[in-house]
Amino acid sequence: MKFQDKTVVITGSANGIGRGLAEAYALSGARVIISDVHEEQGNLAASILKEQGLNAVFVPCDVRKEEDIKRLMNQAVQYAGTIDILINNAGVSRWKSPYELTVEDWDDVINTNARSCFLATREAAVHMKKAGNGGAVVNMSSTRSIMSEPNSEAYAASKGAIVALSHAMAVSLGPDGIRVNCISPGWIETGNYDELRSADHKQHPAGRVGIPADIAKACFYLTDPDNDFVTGAHLVVDGGMTRKMIYEP
Ligand SMILES: NC(=O)c1ccc[n+]([C@@H]2O[C@H](COP(=O)([O-])OP(=O)(O)OC[C@H]3O[C@@H](n4cnc5c(N)ncnc54)[C@H](O)[C@@H]3O)[C@@H](O)[C@H]2O)c1
Repeated sequence: MKFQDKTVVITGSANGIGRGLAEAYALSGARVIISDVHEEQGNLAASILKEQGLNAVFVPCDVRKEEDIKRLMNQAVQYAGTIDILINNAGVSRWKSPYELTVEDWDDVINTNARSCFLATREAAVHMKKAGNGGAVVNMSSTRSIMSEPNSEAYAASKGAIVALSHAMAVSLGPDGIRVNCISPGWIETGNYDELRSADHKQHPAGRVGIPADIAKACFYLTDPDNDFVTGAHLVVDGGMTRKMIYEP
C-alpha cells in the first residue's frame, strides 16, 4: 500500500492506459481522481472501483480547456484535501498526410496532448506548493517523440513537446519539491490482447507487446516518494523496440 492516502489525479482515465493506472493506484491505497472528457465512461470507471471498496471519484474535464483544468484541480482539493500526484495521460492521435493536416487538426492534437500537460501541471503545482508537501507529476509522451512512421506530424510534435516541457518544469518546480518526469510508452495494447499475432509479440526484444500494468509500474517508480532524486527523467517503456536496429532485407 505504497500510495495509501495519497491523492492521484489522472487525466484521460476513463479508458485505456489511464484507466489501468487508476485501478493500479486505487489498489495501492490511493484516493484516485478519475478525469476524462467522456463523462459516461468516466463515471463507469469510477463506480467499478468504488464497488470494489476502493477510493475513486470521477471529475469531468476536457483538457483542451483551461477553465476545466482549473475546476478539476479545485475539485480534487475539495474532495481529498491535497494533490500529491498528477498523471497527465489524456491524449489523441491523428494520422493524416502533412499535405492534408489542417491548422485545426494541428491545434487540437497539440492542445489536447501537450498544452494540457503545461496547464494541468501549473494548476496542480499551485495547490502542491500551497500545501508544502511537494508532489510528483508524470507526463505521458510516446516513443513517437523520438522516432516516426509517416503521417504522424501533429502527434509526434505534441509528444516531443511533452519531453521538453517535462525537463523544463522539473527545473522550474524543483525548488517547490515538485518532481516532473515523463514516460514514453511503446506499443501498449488496450484492446483485446488475445487477438495480437505472434509476430506482434516477437518483434519486441522483450518478446511481447506491452500492457497498461507495464506503464503503471513505471508511474509507481516515478511517483514513489522514496525516489525523490528522480526528476526531469524520460523513461522509455517499450519492450526495447526503439533500441532495435532495423535493416530492410
Ligand atoms: N496505447 C499505446 O500504445 C500508447 C503508446 C504511446 C503513448 N500512448 C499515450 O498514452 C496515453 C493514453 O493512451 P491510450 O492508448 O490509453 O488511449 P485511449 O484513447 O484508450 O485513452 C485516452 C483517454 O483520453 C481521453 N481524452 C481524449 N481527449 C480528451 C480531452 N480533450 N480531455 C480529457 N480526456 C480526453 C479519452 O476519452 C480516453 O479516455 C495517451 O497520451 C497516448 O498518446 C499510448
